[in-house]
Amino acid sequence: MTKQSGRTWLKRAPLLAAPFFFAASAAAVPELSAGRRAELVHLVRQDCGSCHGMTLQGGLGPALTPEALRDKPAESLVATVVGGRPGTPMPPWRQFVSEAEAGWIVQELQAGFPP
Ligand code: HEC
Repeated sequence: MTKQSGRTWLKRAPLLAAPFFFAASAAAVPELSAGRRAELVHLVRQDCGSCHGMTLQGGLGPALTPEALRDKPAESLVATVVGGRPGTPMPPWRQFVSEAEAGWIVQELQAGFPP
């Protein structure tokens, strides 16, 4: 078996690769500068807060508290932040935050968002 066909095989076995992907992406939450973190906290409190409530307890959108998000996989929450939820008022934020930054936001939401 050549290296080439080995790689093709791996691509065809996403279930096999998935645990590695998740392990890698969980570790990929970035070290953001203090300035960028402050901007993201402001964005979440102001823009997300307009739908999810200023205290993130819910409003038009559901609560984004650690209790509400505890059992939800971070990957799907990140996908929701970046891509929105078509057919619902949840808009995509990819113009404003990178996927890595969305990962940081979700991590902080699940831990208890900074004031
Ligand atoms: C215009 C209103 C609106 C804004 C602004 C908004 N959201 Fe949402 N969001 C929603 C709604 C409505 C839902 C629920 C969608 C559904 O029915 O599945 C949602 C769902 C979510 C979810 C999934 C929650 C879950 O329990 O599955 C996350 C995470 C989320 N929003 C994060 C954010 C973040 C972070 C921001 C700001 C960057 C934001 N939202 C801004 C309306 C909004």
